[in-house]
Amino acid sequence: MHHFEVKRGKMTCEGVPVRRIAEAVGTPVYVYSHATLSHHYKVFDDAFAGIPHVICYSMKANSSGSVIRTFTNLGSGVDIVSGGELARALDAGAPPSKIVYSGVGKQIWEIEEALRRGILMFNVESREELETIDAVAGRMRKRAPIAIRVNPDVDPKTHPYISTGLKKNKFGIRIGDAIREYEWAARRKHIEVVGVDCHIGSQLTEISPFVDAAGRIRLLVDRLLRKGLPIRLVDIGGGLGITYREELPPHPKQYADAVARAFSGLEITLVLEPGRVLVGNAGVLLTRVLYTKAAPSLKGKGKKHFFIVDAAMNDLARPSLYGSYHAIVFAGPAAGKTVTADVVGPICESGDFLAKDRRLPMARPGDLLAVMSAGAYGFSMSSNYNSRPRAAEVMVSGRRFEVVRERESLRELAGGERIPSFLSPGRRKAR
Ligand code: LLP
Repeated sequence: MHHFEVKRGKMTCEGVPVRRIAEAVGTPVYVYSHATLSHHYKVFDDAFAGIPHVICYSMKANSSGSVIRTFTNLGSGVDIVSGGELARALDAGAPPSKIVYSGVGKQIWEIEEALRRGILMFNVESREELETIDAVAGRMRKRAPIAIRVNPDVDPKTHPYISTGLKKNKFGIRIGDAIREYEWAARRKHIEVVGVDCHIGSQLTEISPFVDAAGRIRLLVDRLLRKGLPIRLVDIGGGLGITYREELPPHPKQYADAVARAFSGLEITLVLEPGRVLVGNAGVLLTRVLYTKAAPSLKGKGKKHFFIVDAAMNDLARPSLYGSYHAIVFAGPAAGKTVTADVVGPICESGDFLAKDRRLPMARPGDLLAVMSAGAYGFSMSSNYNSRPRAAEVMVSGRRFEVVRERESLRELAGGERIPSFLSPGRRKAR
């Protein structure tokens, strides 16, 4: 469910015609619907109502302070993977007691900062990381609360780049080695074992991998409890998929029921790290058509059209990186006859496309298009490739909209740059 609608050839986000946003702010621009974000959070939270749980929004999906704050205002915590995310989560009102810190490569300064702030737990991914956390906590005269991220070796049946719970992946500690690592961790003076963690992948559209992983984690939790380890938090990660095209992912309730069943009878608090399911369909990327052109079709009949738009792979990397599908919708009237088109950006790579071989009405320069389901891993993965300033971001609530991040300026593009003295004009030798 989302609050973007096309009626009589005009797209609105909640009560705002998106054309107005494009005119006021320019394009490309990300537009987020506050009502959709809140609705998704509440549905997810309600699904777990019968079970003690903490939702830690996985902010890598969308790190906009306004998006994070939307969730923290509703009681959410945050799942972070860097010191940068820690700072931004705190700025957006996340209570440290609801922050979990995941990721395979935590640096010392990042561990120090998380300990100083008093986060809920570190999800630890290797023995060496455990040793480092123990040493850092020791120097700070603290005890670090930890879970071990266990790799349950379950196939999430998703894109290989976003599968994380297979034994060939870099993530976590093999489930077969977990007991040994837990026993080792429990003997460290500056480590407090509090939980078990796993995350098997992203954009999962079936329930069975979650059920398999939860079943394996349950067995492990039972064994750890029998050994006297005080496990009180079970973090089952994120990963619930959304509909980009025709996928039919499980409803959060179905997912919650399956998870609840796996951990029934235990006195634990579940930690959940949803990202995409909260934000994916709550955002679109608005872009304008700059030019159109046609090439002979490869199949020998008809023409292949290119709609060259002002958004590109630097703004939304998912199609180029994973071959992901994002629906393209005309945000204004579309009168042309239907053609087959690639929607491409201005970047100098053939991999720069937002959509391939789509049946769309013929576009004209100036037409406004919406790239749908762009709220997750859209802006947060954007870059400055080809020295393109990053897009603006807007949040809509009811009939109002506000810019929540200005379009990057040309000055900011070279913000931290210095020209070394040996290249400065005064030093150049005269010929
Ligand atoms: N927790 C951990 C430890 C994760 O690694 C991730 C995502 C999540 C939670 C949130 O997963 P979600 O609920 O959003 O599926 N850039 C890719 C997705 C990468 C996901 C990485 N980890 C994409 O655009 O599809």
